[in-house]
Amino acid sequence: MASSAPLGTQPLWDIPTRVFHWSIVACLPLAWWSAEEERYDLHQWVGYTVLVLVVTRVVWGFIGSRHSRFTDFLVGPGAVISYLRGNRARSAGHNPLGGWSVVVLLSLLLLQAVSGLFNTDDVLFSGPLYYWADSGFRDTMGVVHDVAFNGLLALVGLHIFAVLYHQFKLKEKLLQAMVYGSAQGRRGEERPVGWWWAVLVLALLALGLWWGLGQAPKPSFVF
Ligand code: HEM
Ligand code: HEM
Repeated sequence: MASSAPLGTQPLWDIPTRVFHWSIVACLPLAWWSAEEERYDLHQWVGYTVLVLVVTRVVWGFIGSRHSRFTDFLVGPGAVISYLRGNRARSAGHNPLGGWSVVVLLSLLLLQAVSGLFNTDDVLFSGPLYYWADSGFRDTMGVVHDVAFNGLLALVGLHIFAVLYHQFKLKEKLLQAMVYGSAQGRRGEERPVGWWWAVLVLALLALGLWWGLGQAPKPSFVF
């Protein structure tokens, strides 16, 4: 597990956090495109990938490297207000407002992927848990799948705007740190936790999802 090291000499973002981020960035447009093209064979796999990635990131928020842990970047309302009034952030990682936006983004991604499991295109494709739920719940999940995506679009737009503002207006090297792990002025304070722990968590979650979805009831008729 993590050990102390001289201040600011370690990567700010460990490998699992960076792989998670850029994989999600690749998955979202693919999920949108595959739904638009009604390629639900592909859409479901992108959705399962997002689901496993997000749950892995949540687990990593408890067992991962210092700046990827929720305790490093989730602060109370007082600290958020103080930050908004212009006081400096306490951590080298996410700032107090950014920390909470991470939670909202992860929650929306989770909601989007889970609601998809109960969704149907009303023609040929139904999510693997569709036949497990009653019609009221399915309808709700259909609406959630729509609404959560619009919420995601809005929040991702805001997220990109905030990143670009910090990068180009405030001259902070956010992008370099999210690509290379660290950058000038953006370094971590502890040695990272081994990335193989994240691979293990991801593999266990993927297996669990595969097994769990395999237990779901199948339709009682075939076309
Ligand atoms: C598909 C849309 C996107 C989603 C869902 C998303 C989501 C996230 C999340 C959840 C984090 C927190 C990382 C963590 O702690 O695990 C994050 C951080 C970050 N994202 Fe994105 N992101 C998206 C697109 C982008 C794009 C296009 C860029 C580049 C312009 C970007 C740049 C960054 C940077 C630089 C950070 C680190 C911010 C910091 O230093 O506090 N993101 N993003
Ligand atoms: C985070 C991952 C996901 C994203 C971003 C996503 C995104 C979308 C989008 C943008 C649409 C089009 C909405 C519309 O036109 O009304 C859609 C539709 C759909 N998605 Fe997903 N989805 C995800 C995960 C899943 C999963 C895991 C499944 C099932 C295995 C799924 C099943 C469906 C179905 C069946 C539709 C068609 C709904 C309809 O025709 O009204 N999605 N999704």
